[in-house]
Order: sequence, then structure tokens, then C-alpha cells
Amino acid sequence: MKEKMDLLSRRNFLKTSMGALGTVAGTLAAGSAFGQIVKLKTSKQPLGPFFPDDGDPVHEIRESPDFSLPVSEANDNDLTFIRGRKGKALGQVVTLRGKVLLSRNDKLEPQSGAVIILWNASAGGRYNHRGDSDTPRFKHPKTGKWMERAHDENFQYWGRSITDEAGNYSFKTIVPGFYPADIREGWYRPPHLHFMITSPGVPQLVTQLYFKGDQIKDNDFIQQLNAKDFLLRNKRLNTAQQENLIVEYKSDPAGKVAGGLAGEYDFVLTF
Ligand SMILES: [Fe+2]
Repeated sequence: MKEKMDLLSRRNFLKTSMGALGTVAGTLAAGSAFGQIVKLKTSKQPLGPFFPDDGDPVHEIRESPDFSLPVSEANDNDLTFIRGRKGKALGQVVTLRGKVLLSRNDKLEPQSGAVIILWNASAGGRYNHRGDSDTPRFKHPKTGKWMERAHDENFQYWGRSITDEAGNYSFKTIVPGFYPADIREGWYRPPHLHFMITSPGVPQLVTQLYFKGDQIKDNDFIQQLNAKDFLLRNKRLNTAQQENLIVEYKSDPAGKVAGGLAGEYDFVLTF
């Protein structure tokens, strides 16, 4: 009798587990092919001092002729070159694709018409911003080699993507350089991308996403920086929330970027 009971509870247990698995699979199906496994709400990260407001850039970049747009919204979603210039940005090319979703009543609703602004440093770890003038060169904390925080005249620095009907967005950019935040403390910001996401009727989200992937140059070093970055490892975020901000990049499955890498990330907004 006892054995039968055990068998029954085991069956129930299996049934429950399968149910849970089904839910996870459903969540995955609603989201991305790879990258983000669990749909956590996207945690906020600081805006930082280098958002491209009008008057801030050292080199003005305005691809759109529409001067009614703020400069932050005047460029397209491909940061690897500037329209009208022949050169290409330095650095490893990555594409980032995904959706903007609103988490409401345990459902994820795709947000169409959401405006995403991306801004990031050059391959040399320098922003196109007048405020970014400290430590134009620094010694690499591992190799001791002098690093120039150089601007890149062919890098677009910031761009805008507006989500389609299904909430999809995409960006093409480069892996930015790491840069010193506080040399005395031994704090160097890992390569990261800044985002501001504005969807009608939803509180604005400002965050930063980080990098990992075997094919990213200096990935081991980048993971060391990720491990001790004070902003990513904010004590208010639990480990899962922190890890959720690190995007894995792999060889571009669609082959759209020669030698490039692709990552997927769904921004999950909330009220
Ligand atoms: Fe930054």
C-alpha cells in the first residue's frame, strides 16, 4: 500500500514538474532564441554622465536632416559607420536584437512604437561627450601597456531604434573599450552599452547591458571586470538580476554580419 502511495505521489510530482517545465518552455517561446533564459524584469542602471544631449558631443553627429529631433534621436540604429563617410568604426562588430515587452498581470505584452536610444564608448573607451575628458590615457591594469582613450571619427556613438508592431528592435554597434572609473580604487568599467527606453504610457527605463562570449576579444579579462564592477554588482540587485544584464554574444546565426557576433535581449518593462 505504501509503495502504491509513493508511486502515486511520485506521479503527481512528475506531473507538477512537467507543468512547471511547460511554463518555462512557454516563456522561452514568447521570448528569444538564446541569451535570456528567464524573463526577469530588466533592472535599471545609472544614466551616467555621457548621455548625448544637444551641445554635449565633441564631434556633432546628426544623420537625420530633421533638426526638430534632439541630437540623441537624430541617428539610425547602425553605429558602425556614419552616413556619408567611407570609413568603418574600429572594434568588434556586434548586433543586438530583441523585443521591448511590458510585464503586466503575469503576461508579457510586446510594445510597439517604443523608442530606444543606445549610446556607448568607442573601441578606445571614450565617449563623444565634452564631459569625458579625464584620463585620456591610462595603464592597462593587467599588461601595464599605455592605453589611449581615442575617439573614432567613423564611429556613430549613439543611435535610435523604434520597435515594430511585434515589439522588435535591433542595433549594430561595436564592443566598446573598458575605461577607468576610479584608478586608485582599481575600478575599471567593463565594456557596456547604455540604453534609454521610452514606451508610451510606461515609465521610462534607463539601463546598461554587459558582454560575455567565447568569441569576444579579451573575454576572460572582461569577465573579471564584470565580476567586480560596482554598478553591475549593485547590492540592491540579486545575482539573477545582475546576470540578466550580461548578454551572451555568439557567431551571428543569420550570417548577416561578416565576422560579427549577435546577441539577443528582451527589455522587460514594468509599472
Ligand atoms: Fe558608460
